[in-house]
Amino acid sequence: MLSSRIAVKRNALSVHFTSQFSRLSSSKTSPLELPFPKSISEILSSPPANSSPITVNGWVSGSRTSKNVAFVDVRDGTTFQDIKCIVRPPSLIPSNLNTGSSVTLHGLWTEGKKGSSQAFELQVNGNDNPDAAVKVLGEVEELYPLQKKSHTAQFLRTIPEYRLRTIEMSAILRFRSVVETALVEFFNSAGFTKTHPPLITSSDCEGAGELFKVESNSKVEKGEKFFGKDAYLSVSTQLHLEVMCAALSRVWTLTPCFRAEESDTNRHLSEFWMLEAEVAFVEDVRQLTRFSEMMIKSVVQRLHDNLENSASNLTETIDKQLVETMTSRWEMMLKKDQWDTITYTEAIEILHRSMEEGKTNFKFAPIWGESLKSEHEKWLAGSYFGNPVFVTDYPLNEKPFYMQINPENSDNIDKATVACFDLLVPDIGELIGGSMREHDLKKLEAEISRREMDVSPLQWYLALRENGSVPHGGFGMGFERLLQYLSCTENIRDVVPFPRHVDSCPC
Ligand code: 4AD
Ligand code: MG
Repeated sequence: MLSSRIAVKRNALSVHFTSQFSRLSSSKTSPLELPFPKSISEILSSPPANSSPITVNGWVSGSRTSKNVAFVDVRDGTTFQDIKCIVRPPSLIPSNLNTGSSVTLHGLWTEGKKGSSQAFELQVNGNDNPDAAVKVLGEVEELYPLQKKSHTAQFLRTIPEYRLRTIEMSAILRFRSVVETALVEFFNSAGFTKTHPPLITSSDCEGAGELFKVESNSKVEKGEKFFGKDAYLSVSTQLHLEVMCAALSRVWTLTPCFRAEESDTNRHLSEFWMLEAEVAFVEDVRQLTRFSEMMIKSVVQRLHDNLENSASNLTETIDKQLVETMTSRWEMMLKKDQWDTITYTEAIEILHRSMEEGKTNFKFAPIWGESLKSEHEKWLAGSYFGNPVFVTDYPLNEKPFYMQINPENSDNIDKATVACFDLLVPDIGELIGGSMREHDLKKLEAEISRREMDVSPLQWYLALRENGSVPHGGFGMGFERLLQYLSCTENIRDVVPFPRHVDSCPC
């Protein structure tokens, strides 16, 4: 999908939604007087007066020369747009200027000709402007891989050092930044404190055994342990976030998380970013689902409201059909007042019914007590609901130790469920996982002991329940999965600058 992205005309979108989130607006340009040369984004968003002298810096995205004139398109990654430079005489163009070269051009900022695709262009005219100049800062080798033609996403992943210079990948990086900013503003407006939990930890939060060990090389050689015990890269910051929640009431974070999952899929990374939130004085998992829905809708609303400034950076770099798919996805997410919520038990029933009625044919039969497989998740959200859907109250045995056990069937381990939820979205499946946390010390200790877990590394976590314990809950959302879903990107590896997965850490 990514490889098919091409430039399309501006304003392909005219959708507009109003809501409580529409006031969250952003502008890419800075009103500050910065000690840097102007970027292309700054030049285009507040253009200098006609015929004023100006310097443009960037990388050549294309050039051609004819007898009397040469054309150089320059891009700097601050926007999807190029600046078109008209160079006269063509002999001003250094012989080492090629697609990909870094360049500085001096010329006059000039209104484009009627009918030209750009309102302004840079006239580098040596015939009547003695300062006109084209300078190559950095040459490219003859075999520079990013020539003008488009490349497949797979090929681009093999050149991580240049991949981000493509129009598609630089748009994705700007999109990451836009979405993160929207989330920061949402959490600020919701009275949360952004916190900074550790990434080196001695606990396995999820208990799934997908840990990467952290050890110093010199200690390994001596058979010693740097931290005096085993330590790991965090799979989720939740446990530490709970500590901060017990001090600050509403906390969130966005951090890298690391999982040694060997699954080679289009939705798993070994290093990914997770947004986690934890809220005190919450009693019901529905409060968490409602809140996470508000969070995602606030981002989508902002993308809609700011197509020119933010989302356009993405929509302008993909083909028209994908823009339509993407915006109808966004509209769909905003349309419904509240997304559907079903219990895990209802989900299993729906899946069974669809099989019985011959509507579906899953590879794995849905079985109560087992996890929902990715095919089940995608079908529920994509085909059945056609929208994000919350699934709550999963079986106790399928979920980690810290989740609060629902009172119903709590004495029958095989039927017991927990106060948790997953948010499933079409095409991807699970986007968020969250739950109420067991805040009663005795109950939590009983569950840890039932699972025959070693309690000693969790003493600090249990201590939270000894003094001033409060009902609380939270969730974690895969940031790349959100980006993947919002941008309709097929593979999660293409929404992250340097994807890491099993057998791949090239730089
Ligand atoms: O469902 P998970 O495992 O939940 C937790 O870790 C909780 N402790 C979070 C919390 O309650 N604070 O992971 C949360 C989300 C998933 O729903 C998924 O979107 C994403 O993290 N995720 C991954 N994303 C990319 N690559 C992977 N290998 C991922 N594993 C999980
Ligand atoms: Mg999960």
